[in-house]
Amino acid sequence: MNIYDTIGTSYVHTRQPDPRIAAQIHAALGDASDVINIGAGSGSYEPPQTVLAVEPSEVMIAQRPPGAAPAVRAVAERLPVRDGAADAVMALLTIHHWTDPEAGIAELRRIARRRIVVLTWDQQVFRERFWLVRDYLPQAAEFDDERAMPIDVVAELLGGAWQEPVPIPHDCTDGFGAAFWRRPQAYLDPRVRAGISMLAQTGDAALAPGLAALEDDLNTGRWQDRYADLLALDSIDVGYRLLVAEL
Ligand SMILES: C[S@@+](CC[C@H](N)C(=O)[O-])C[C@H]1O[C@@H](n2cnc3c(N)ncnc32)[C@H](O)[C@@H]1O
Repeated sequence: MNIYDTIGTSYVHTRQPDPRIAAQIHAALGDASDVINIGAGSGSYEPPQTVLAVEPSEVMIAQRPPGAAPAVRAVAERLPVRDGAADAVMALLTIHHWTDPEAGIAELRRIARRRIVVLTWDQQVFRERFWLVRDYLPQAAEFDDERAMPIDVVAELLGGAWQEPVPIPHDCTDGFGAAFWRRPQAYLDPRVRAGISMLAQTGDAALAPGLAALEDDLNTGRWQDRYADLLALDSIDVGYRLLVAEL
């Protein structure tokens, strides 16, 4: 059973594709004539030329909108797709869930003809810059230390890739880990946490002291004082990276 069969039940409630991030991903895909989306989830960011989605979780496939590209239930590590099947292949916010990311990335290279686009994050930057994990929830950062692959290793496994920072808008509509960097109250909402695997998988018991401290700091105004500089920003770079490999 895939972890998203458990934690993904309300995914689309908090994880709507963000139009600014979509524009960056679609620009990276360029003029690709057809696209396969790996670890596709509910279909966020799929451009119109998507021909196939690969996703292991039934719960996630069930949340794909009507009219989305057909989905096959499979894992990245063993793609049921012929060599060179699509002009471009994308894998967004998913490689950290793969049991064997090396094998999965080799599969991306096998099935892509021209381009691979991967959205992931640089854990070192994330740890240093994102106040939530740095100052309140170190347990969540430790959880991510275990599964985040160093960005240069991802690039090397892709056979070389250029890297673009993905700035996170203050009103990001895709509620992943750092999406609420300027809306701290959101992290106190269990439904928001359920849509963020780093928090859902670390678990509320481990997060409880940090969440209580955050709630207290918000109520006393300490958070607002401490992070006043953030409140003036429209977007922030906390380590999310788009990797684009030309084959
Ligand atoms: C955070 S969601 C991202 C979904 C989608 N790409 C998006 O951007 O909204 C991670 C997805 O990776 C999928 N996943 C987990 N293990 C996988 C594997 N071994 N191969 C492919 N996908 C996997 C999960 O089921 C889940 O749908």
